[in-house]
Amino acid sequence: MKKVIVLGANGQLGKTIKDLPDSGTIDFHFYSRSDLDITNKTKLETLFAYSDFDYCINCAAYTNVEGAETNTEDAFLINAEGARHIAEVCNVYHVKLIHISTDYVFDGESIEPYTTTDQTNPINQYGKSKLQGELYIQEQLNEYYIIRTSWLYALHGKNFVKTIINKIKEDSTLNITTEQVGTPTSCVDLAHFIIHLINQGIVPYGVYNFSANGSTTWYEFAKEIAKNYNSDKLEKIKTSGSFKTVAKRPKYSVFDLKKTERIYKELNTWQNSVGDLIKAYKAGKYLK
Ligand SMILES: NC(=O)c1ccc[n+]([C@@H]2O[C@H](COP(=O)([O-])OP(=O)(O)OC[C@H]3O[C@@H](n4cnc5c(N)ncnc54)[C@H](OP(=O)(O)O)[C@@H]3O)[C@@H](O)[C@H]2O)c1
Repeated sequence: MKKVIVLGANGQLGKTIKDLPDSGTIDFHFYSRSDLDITNKTKLETLFAYSDFDYCINCAAYTNVEGAETNTEDAFLINAEGARHIAEVCNVYHVKLIHISTDYVFDGESIEPYTTTDQTNPINQYGKSKLQGELYIQEQLNEYYIIRTSWLYALHGKNFVKTIINKIKEDSTLNITTEQVGTPTSCVDLAHFIIHLINQGIVPYGVYNFSANGSTTWYEFAKEIAKNYNSDKLEKIKTSGSFKTVAKRPKYSVFDLKKTERIYKELNTWQNSVGDLIKAYKAGKYLK
């Protein structure tokens, strides 16, 4: 049985990992922000010193992309310094780190899917803080997985799927941008991938991309949500050219998944994953 700590356990990914059926192979220990703040290295150290963890999954992050433009110090404190603290304690206590990063480490100027070795060049403070976190981890550790993912959604927390469903319920007309191209990723799929890394135990360390297969725009993503939730409302989803934001967004952030596919055969299409999540939502599995 592997002993695994999950940090940031109250976020959408952390809660999704908690939902997974018990495989009998992993002894999970969940820590929310109020249990353990990753900016407090002393607390991390005290816990790791006496816990004998095999793996640490870091789901904790400052994820407010807009907020990071003004609360830049907080974003770096959590996404960069927090990641550094975790890497340092993992190094001292020989814990393998699984850290979640983002497509926002790229500038979005590519015209083809990003590989794990492509040049990073974040264009907003959130992306810069997440990249700094990656660099600290790589400085400190050999035994790490950095998983870059994109456009996450889940039954938990705030995310695009739930926002669109709520707007459909209100019968609102929605104008959604066609300007960005990327790939939605279900936290359920990502959680299964993380479990795969732990259960396999022999996957080479390093950086991995993880999303569903395929690519789309936010507009097409919204239409797919409507199609699955209530197809009568499809015509309420309209295109809009631009979406005004404080933070710049990469206009293209599709991942090249070949490296991931070599070690993992279970990637879904993004449409199937959206369909599965909405089926679960309709079955009453919606949780805050
Ligand atoms: N959401 C996306 O679209 C997306 C896309 C690509 C990559 N990612 C990455 O995927 C990972 C998981 O994201 P998510 O969507 O699950 O994020 P989320 O729902 O915002 O959850 C992040 C969690 O981290 C916690 N946290 C914040 N500061 C902390 C601290 N100092 N110490 C401990 N915990 C702290 C938050 O606690 P509170 O609840 O108390 O605030 C929250 O529960 C993150 O690394 C994120 O950067 C996300």
